[in-house]
Amino acid sequence: MSAISAETLNLPLCPEIGNRAVEAIHAAYDRYQRGFEEITQRARERFERRDWLGAQADATERLALYRIHVDGAVADVHDILQDAVMERTLWAAMRARHEVGARCRPDAELAQTFFNSVTRRVFSTVGVDSAIEYLEPTDPPIEPGGPPLLDRDVVDAVDAALVRRILDRFAWSVPYASPERDAAAVARIIGETLDSMPARGPLTVDVVRPVFYRNKGAYVVGRLRRGGMTLPLVLPLLNSERGIVVDAVLLTPNEASIVFGFSWSYFRVDVTRPRELVDFLSSIMPLKRIDELYNGIGYNKHGKTELFRSLMTYLRYPDARFAFAEGDEGMVMAVFTLPAFNLVFKIIKDSFGAPKNTTRQAVMDKYHFVFVRDRVGRLADAQEFEHLEFPRRCFPEELLSYLVSVAGKTVRVEGDRVIVRHVYTERRVTPLNLYLREADPAAAREAVIEYGNAIKDLAAADIFTGDMLLKNFGVTRNGRVICYDYDELCLLSECRFRRIPPPTTYEDELAAEPWFSVAENDVFPEEFHAFLVPPGELRDAFLHAHGDLLDLAFWHGVQQRLATGEVVDVFPYRRSALLRRN
Ligand SMILES: Nc1ncnc2c1ncn2[C@@H]1O[C@H](COP(=O)(O)OP(=O)(O)OP(=O)(O)O)[C@@H](O)[C@H]1O
Ligand SMILES: [Mg+2]
Repeated sequence: MSAISAETLNLPLCPEIGNRAVEAIHAAYDRYQRGFEEITQRARERFERRDWLGAQADATERLALYRIHVDGAVADVHDILQDAVMERTLWAAMRARHEVGARCRPDAELAQTFFNSVTRRVFSTVGVDSAIEYLEPTDPPIEPGGPPLLDRDVVDAVDAALVRRILDRFAWSVPYASPERDAAAVARIIGETLDSMPARGPLTVDVVRPVFYRNKGAYVVGRLRRGGMTLPLVLPLLNSERGIVVDAVLLTPNEASIVFGFSWSYFRVDVTRPRELVDFLSSIMPLKRIDELYNGIGYNKHGKTELFRSLMTYLRYPDARFAFAEGDEGMVMAVFTLPAFNLVFKIIKDSFGAPKNTTRQAVMDKYHFVFVRDRVGRLADAQEFEHLEFPRRCFPEELLSYLVSVAGKTVRVEGDRVIVRHVYTERRVTPLNLYLREADPAAAREAVIEYGNAIKDLAAADIFTGDMLLKNFGVTRNGRVICYDYDELCLLSECRFRRIPPPTTYEDELAAEPWFSVAENDVFPEEFHAFLVPPGELRDAFLHAHGDLLDLAFWHGVQQRLATGEVVDVFPYRRSALLRRN
């Protein structure tokens, strides 16, 4: 521990109860971090034992931890501070005192976010309260400590022996299936890529020591640097029946970005200094925002802090303006965007038009359902914010009056501020209906096939999107199709897929309403064609690839597979033919 103290830093004096409350917040954070580590460290064994259900349960359990420990800290500070719990001067002194402890931690920024979560809960802070919260990014920890993040080799070229050495650093309890063959193939792919690049001279190969785990995959992550050039090096590993195999070699920022994309669940990676890891990841994926990288390694609460900070910095520009999101207006959500910032804001409307018969709570439950589930690369990650405050000048009048009229319970204007009580943020994608209108025929064909792939990937992960309309799906920068509308999402295993019963009378046939009873969870795949792709060449292409989606047998087949407990993996990369054996 460092020798600095509140006295040497000349901080406001914190009364004894304040010190105790700060200790309690630090202790709650420690418990959170220990719990987080414990679950994260299990990932390796889950992978080695091919315990996929266990891995899924861990992922869900880890997402619940933050809330549990913030709740604990809030209860503790109430107990300690009693009547003084709402005294802001006391909290200002506590924050200064807290900082002394936080700055000695290798994960100072996360501890500070945790403190903010506690004060925000105690005060139900609207906007931010600079006196009692951390606003600015923190200085690096005083004593970083811990093992180095990377292993580094400086070589003339990558050969099989080097790849073998890299693979052997990870001492799995399961052997590699064919390490010689994999090492040779990986070295060959890397060599070919490097040869095609202009840079020459010594090559620095950095490989991150902790492994990234998600679903059935373990990812070795590194980078190659030569001259001024930097390439990511991502090796997805699978634990096959025959042992561990390298499944692909990813060497472009785009491929790495998809692996770390916002539509997959968070990685489990055991890291002491998260900021250092995030900086490393940023060096290989320069287009990814820092908040997305924190989210990607499971620190989504701190991701929110980072996002909020960059948002506020951006909104200081005199020209910063929100705008209506492009596309069809939602019946449940009022959606707006910041054109220069790849983000949409989704606010639950006060009331929903027919035929929606859902409730605000039910919509929030669906978003939570998506948050804790495996999103299999097909559902956008949504971050939930409360009590945000924006400068009013950033809203065009038309947008503001729209928001107040459809969501007045959530959005209110106070002087020059707009206060948003509850909002989800998501990465902005191009709504598929708009994309198809503008894309050239080949790209449009690819997108509708991707749309079918998305429906199938989700089905395999026990998710039925309900609303399969094109307007509820979007195309990412990398051309992947994902779903972003969750209010009709449900477990596929709980749906009843049925054939439409034949009409028994002539009146049945003419009736506008169904002549048979339809339960809440009934689904009629025969009817899908009416919603799906527009008629013509695109529909032909879609049906050619995904005609089975209209077939009852497809859905029953998926349900049967789900019933056996099979965990289907979806790969966030093109599996390398060179490395694949089956
Ligand atoms: N992540 C996103 N990126 C880009 N646009 C989006 C995104 N999320 C929503 N939108 C836009 O906002 C509209 C409404 O969003 P969404 O579909 O989530 O709301 P909804 O009210 O649930 O819709 P519905 O009435 O279909 O149930 C979409 O049709 C789309 O045009
Ligand atoms: Mg929609």
